[in-house]
Amino acid sequence: MLLAIETSCDETGVALFTKDGKLVKHLLYSQVALHSPFGGIVPEIASRKQLEVLPPLTEKLLKDCSVKLKEVEAVAVTFGPGLIGSLLVGVSFAKALCFRFNIPLIKVDHLQAHITAIFLEKSVEFPFIALLVSGGHTAIFLVKDWEEFYLLGHTRDDAAGEAFDKVAKLLGLGYPGGPIISKLAEKGKPGVLQLPRPLIEDPGFDFSFSGLKTAVLNLLKKNPEVKPEDLCAEFEEAIAEVLVKKTLSAAERLKINRVVVAGGVAANKKLRELFKNEASKKGITCEFPSPEFCTDNAAMVGALGIKLWERKRFVNLLEEPYARGSYLSL
Ligand code: KG4
Ligand code: ZN
Repeated sequence: MLLAIETSCDETGVALFTKDGKLVKHLLYSQVALHSPFGGIVPEIASRKQLEVLPPLTEKLLKDCSVKLKEVEAVAVTFGPGLIGSLLVGVSFAKALCFRFNIPLIKVDHLQAHITAIFLEKSVEFPFIALLVSGGHTAIFLVKDWEEFYLLGHTRDDAAGEAFDKVAKLLGLGYPGGPIISKLAEKGKPGVLQLPRPLIEDPGFDFSFSGLKTAVLNLLKKNPEVKPEDLCAEFEEAIAEVLVKKTLSAAERLKINRVVVAGGVAANKKLRELFKNEASKKGITCEFPSPEFCTDNAAMVGALGIKLWERKRFVNLLEEPYARGSYLSL
């Protein structure tokens, strides 16, 4: 059995897989309530809570699956990118288990895990284009293999999820902003107010969302009477249009007709609809993990961990515990 661990930010995730890649169960502890009074994640609080939650959550998972700790044959853990304190909790815990039971440790990149979450439920042929869109990252990759991720473009400032969270904070709506804005947007109309589509005409694959956030702030200052639902609808549409246009143009440019959209923001209904509609017009198939596997979780870590286990990509237990993701360039 493989134990997978995710502690890169404010969610604590653990998952068990059989050696042939079947997900037995995964558990998630969310710290949302702890951070929402601050309108965002407080790293120090996040890491302290990870430390408190990870051991009992692992015990519960093993108990629920009637598996003994000594039956675990390998551990896969998120090494980065993420909050250093939170990452250290998961990595140290994983290393301790590996030392104790003399089993291999597998290092998993958080962004790659978000993308390979698709394989928990679907099969997609390599190569494909992946949009990873979360609270910390917005990037387009060409994925040629489980271990070959070519970075085509990324955000120059805020990630799309971060923009959702900050705009929700501006509007006093709470945290996390994505699901709240999305719900409110259903009652509003896009186009009543106008927001920019940053870099949409730029031929490259980079994004920029901080100006969009400022545009919302300026709009609110100029017209405090705007209907929040119309503002949310326009904001959501602006983000969705940019993400869809850039990703599909990467697919067309590289002549690849398969796209995977992953990460927390990929749970957004409007984004999923727009992707499906626009992709089908161009003969491109577009796949998303279920919303449960879009936001941070350990099942996605295991999805990639299982493959790396099969390929014996083990790390030295004395290796530096934190690493940035290493992505290839074309
Ligand atoms: O992937 P994730 O759980 O954590 C990171 O690795 O960052 O993504 C969290 C982000 C948050 O910014 C949250 O607001 C956003 O995903 N999010 C959404 C939705 N659900 C979560 N954004 C838009 N629409 C949603 N339905
Ligand atoms: Zn994430």
